[in-house]
This record gives sequence, C-alpha cells and structure tokens, in this order.
Amino acid sequence: KHAPVITLDGPGGVGKGTISTLLAEKLGWHFLDSGALYRLTALAASNHGISLKDEQAVALVAEHLDVQFANDASGSQIILENEKVTEAIRTEEVGTNASIVAAYSRVRDALLKRQRAFAVEPGLIADGRDMGTVVFTDAPLKIFMNASAEERATRRVRQLQEKGATADYDTVLADIVARDERDQNRATAPLKPADDAVLLDTTCLSIDEVMNAILDEAASRQ
Ligand code: C5P
Repeated sequence: KHAPVITLDGPGGVGKGTISTLLAEKLGWHFLDSGALYRLTALAASNHGISLKDEQAVALVAEHLDVQFANDASGSQIILENEKVTEAIRTEEVGTNASIVAAYSRVRDALLKRQRAFAVEPGLIADGRDMGTVVFTDAPLKIFMNASAEERATRRVRQLQEKGATADYDTVLADIVARDERDQNRATAPLKPADDAVLLDTTCLSIDEVMNAILDEAASRQ
C-alpha cells in the first residue's frame, strides 16, 4: 500500500505543471513530473545518436536511464548522465520527441516502476497523461484538466515570452494540436480521463480558481 496520490492528467500546455507544483508546496507532498521522464528518454536517445524510430534501442535507453532529481540553491534540478538538463528538456523539440518515444509500450513499461517509486509519505501529486488510468489507478483523487487548444497556445506563448524566448502563436498552436493528436490516438495509454476522474475545464479559470477547485475536491473526500 503506497502513500496517498492525487493524479493530475491532461493535454500539454493546460497548466498541470504550475498547478501540481503549487499543490505539492501547499500540501507539503512530493511531486512527480512524469513528462520529464519521457523528455529525458528522448534527449538521452538523441545524445547517443539513436534514431527515435528504433523502438528497441529507445526502449533500452528508457530501461537504463541514468537520472537524478536534485535540489540546489537555484531550485530543483534534473541531472542526466552527470549533466544538468533542467532547461534543455523543456524545448518544443524535446517535447515533440518525447511524444514519439511515449508511444512505445516498452518505453512506458520501463518507466512505470520508476514513477510508482515516487508515491511515498506524506503523499504525491502526479502530473502526466496516464497517471489516473495506468500508473496510479487506485488514487483517491483524480483530476483531468483541459482547456481549448487556442487557450493553451496563448498560455504557452506567454510562458515562453516570460522566459525571454521568441514564440510564434501559429507554430505553437500547430505543435499543440499535433501533440494532442499523437497522445490521444496512440494504442498504449492514450490520453483520456479515468472513469472516476473529476473533469476540470480551465479555459476560463485563473490559477487560484483551479487550485481552489482541486483543494475543495480533496477536502470533500477526507
Ligand atoms: O507533459 P510534457 O509536455 O512534459 O510531456 C511530454 C510528452 O510525454 C507528452 O506529449 C506525452 O506524449 C508524453 N507523456 C506521456 N505520459 C505521461 C507524461 C508525458 O505519454 N504520463
């Protein structure tokens, strides 16, 4: 029996990362960014010159992923094979590559145990696509966040601009639509709400409103 888990699934750019981080801080719980594991697999494969089309070779990379989640003065850091990749895994290119390797069932199997190991006391906020449907099926609270592709593109552009990057709305929107398509239509663990998930459309909600909706749900289940 593992620690309590709140799963937060939904498409890219819906704000799960922001909300999960805030929830974990507020509750004092651990946080699993499962997308980072798929991004790390894609980056490691590219670094080793492995073609993303080579399912078996990519699966071996996932099975032997040498990654550490550490904390230093500037916050939480992700270390891949002794190299800090905290920012490097956040590019749109790595995101797209992540969604390619995420379609391989052997890759998903390899990452399953690693993800479940995050469920330790006092609890875990698990952010991803299949947290409620595959990884933590017995979680007492499952949230599925959604927002229109246009709203998600607007948010993503704003986020990129805040980081000082240039961002073209049409390109970002096209990426979001393509990634949704791939995540929803794959055979293994497609993006969809768990039967017992609470659906939360955040298109017209602020961060505070989303936080309050989730905390209310959590409180009503205690
Ligand atoms: O959430 P993030 O954008 O970091 O995820 C990158 C990609 O990893 C997603 O587009 C999706 O294809 C994949 N992913 C997944 N299952 C998860 C988390 C992410 O398939 N639990």
